[in-house]
Amino acid sequence: MMAPGKGILAADESDSTAGKRLQMVHLPNEEAHRQDFRELLFTAPGINQYLSGVILYDSTIKTAADDGTPFPDVLTARGIIPGIKVDLGTKDFEGFPGEVVSQGLDNLEDRFVEYYNLGARFAKWRMVVTIDEQIPTDACLEANAVMLARYAQMAQKTGIVPMVEPEVIFAGDHDIARAEMVTTRALQILFQTLIKYKVDLQGLILKSSMVLAGDTYHEQSTPDQIANATLRTFHMSVPHEVGGIVFLSGGQSPKRATENLNAIAKLGPQPWPITYSYSRALEEPFLLAWQGKPENTEHAQEVLLHACKMNSLAAEGNYVVGEDQVLK
Ligand code: 13P
Repeated sequence: MMAPGKGILAADESDSTAGKRLQMVHLPNEEAHRQDFRELLFTAPGINQYLSGVILYDSTIKTAADDGTPFPDVLTARGIIPGIKVDLGTKDFEGFPGEVVSQGLDNLEDRFVEYYNLGARFAKWRMVVTIDEQIPTDACLEANAVMLARYAQMAQKTGIVPMVEPEVIFAGDHDIARAEMVTTRALQILFQTLIKYKVDLQGLILKSSMVLAGDTYHEQSTPDQIANATLRTFHMSVPHEVGGIVFLSGGQSPKRATENLNAIAKLGPQPWPITYSYSRALEEPFLLAWQGKPENTEHAQEVLLHACKMNSLAAEGNYVVGEDQVLK
């Protein structure tokens, strides 16, 4: 999963979130369009050179390509490891306004066996951390961390690599210092809990947000500020034996996500391999080129390949911003 020069595509949107992607190209949220969208992503020529894994959603891992080959088999045949998102979204954390806890532990052991048999070899669980004046609370970070630890234990028992994702939400008017404090706290609580629950850290991947000022803060963080704050945060909270760190794009523009990854990689090497696991920053350039039209397919798949290639270069600190005319 952490092969040098490769990253991960998160194509694990729920059916309703996939509908938001399709809305960008004016397609109705119907099963046939979701299938078409995913098939074009997974079969894009050349992407196996840059992608080590693709994260799927419950309905997607059970969907087949037009020729009848199940999506996980399409990926495996290309040397790409199928993964699965296993949390079932969030619900309000009672008594803590504005905070949420992820759910999905019920029957998870059985679901892991089912997903393993379908070809999944890693699994993602996302917890959501929102920044506001009074939040996040330690109580919410702790409740989520326990859920993540239980899921990670079960995953490892089934032979599935857990990818733990505490996403600190980019939306907000907080400054970068606050984002750094919150991310450090969330990661410290998470790793203390994972250790307490005897999760094997070598067989675990951290999926993290980058540390940056909120999207409505008056001064947007520069790549250098983001790289320094993000790596300081990791060095304060992520044990060195963790198998790897991958980034979500979190609503940053594709170009910005790539540029920031590049700035982080340039400060390496770090104790952990570091790469990308983007959804929007890889899918949006594809969608804009595709527009849901068959005549645009080839070009759209080339754009996806380009986005994967640029991020793979960035993961090694070799992305040259000025030379990239495609990503916006
Ligand atoms: P984005 O890259 O769009 O943030 O999505 C990654 C992800 O997996 C969020 O859970």
